[in-house]
Amino acid sequence: MRARLVLVAMTTAVALLMLVQVGLPAAATPERGGGWEPPEEQPLRSLADRSGLRVGTAVDMTALADDSTYRDRIAEEFSAVTAENVMKWETIEPERGEYNWQPADELVAFARRNRQKVHGHTLVWHNQNPAWLTEGVASGEIDSDELREILRTHIIDQVRHFRGRIWHWDVVNEAIDDDGNLRDTFWLQQLGPDYIADAFRWAHQADPRVKLYLNDYNVEGINPKSDAYYELAQDLLADGVPLHGFGAQGHLGVQYGFPGDIAENLGRFADLGLETAITEADVRMPLPVDNTKLAAQAQGYRLLLEGCLLTPRCVMFTVWGYTDKYSWVPGFFEGEGAANLLDEDFNPKPAYDAVHTTLVLAGGLHRHHRR
Ligand code: XIL
Repeated sequence: MRARLVLVAMTTAVALLMLVQVGLPAAATPERGGGWEPPEEQPLRSLADRSGLRVGTAVDMTALADDSTYRDRIAEEFSAVTAENVMKWETIEPERGEYNWQPADELVAFARRNRQKVHGHTLVWHNQNPAWLTEGVASGEIDSDELREILRTHIIDQVRHFRGRIWHWDVVNEAIDDDGNLRDTFWLQQLGPDYIADAFRWAHQADPRVKLYLNDYNVEGINPKSDAYYELAQDLLADGVPLHGFGAQGHLGVQYGFPGDIAENLGRFADLGLETAITEADVRMPLPVDNTKLAAQAQGYRLLLEGCLLTPRCVMFTVWGYTDKYSWVPGFFEGEGAANLLDEDFNPKPAYDAVHTTLVLAGGLHRHHRR
């Protein structure tokens, strides 16, 4: 009796095994040399792909040239890239009318070789502008009419140069302050509030197919600043301005806590017909690193990613650098750092595991398609 039971069990097991072998397409069985990998072992980009999401990173061009580990990992893990600096005005047009496209072109070529989309960052901002521009405005040498013409030319030249090679542009970066007022920049002072609509129209004119975004920090959850963006977006759309997306940068810190309503916030922009994206995620911490802070950091990344996954047409989750080896945080926030998914030796931190696991789960049976 016992022997029979064992035999039945063995036959069933063999039959099941055969069924599995027959039932799976040839390419899906690892023993036959196909490309199938269990989700747990897949890089972020193929996992994100199962949810119709692109996962991106900011790229430091010096590190890309000098550090092959840094470079290989970007190719392996990410399906989108953003220039951390080289598409900003001070790099693109260091002298008036003299363009320096080369570093940005290199990134675009790298992305193409690695089947990555490029998020363009950024056309209009109050930071990282060339001295000829800021000093010219400050001294009165450049008056408002001339400034408007300079802005128009810059946007049209830059968007045209990259036409067809950029997925979406951050057209105006950080246009609103934390109180929800238009940020008091030289753009606003010289050109008035219409500079925003103008910038979008010029960009659209130069490349009618590229998607155009507003982008800012502290707008992940619902607060006075994101409310102001919600109103601005409605006004722009009502005026027929070619606005297509809203980017929440996602610069968080463990000491501040995290918004719990990211999907609700991004969802209201989706309801306006806009795409959304997390464009610059990092979660910094006061140093030194400890396990509690690393766990909190993982939670911050998870909340940003889940907020995106839960929002229809949240098309990209981009981190602002992926290794602590190259990070803007220590240089900008005194005593803080360790903001990225991997440590300085490219070892995954709990945050990497959180992002990875969230993508594994999201791409399962109940995945939904956002493209
Ligand atoms: C940062 C870069 O990471 C630094 O290398 C640079 O020195 C300053 O700018 N919001 C943005 C990004 O939109 O462009 C900023 O990037 C980080 C904050």
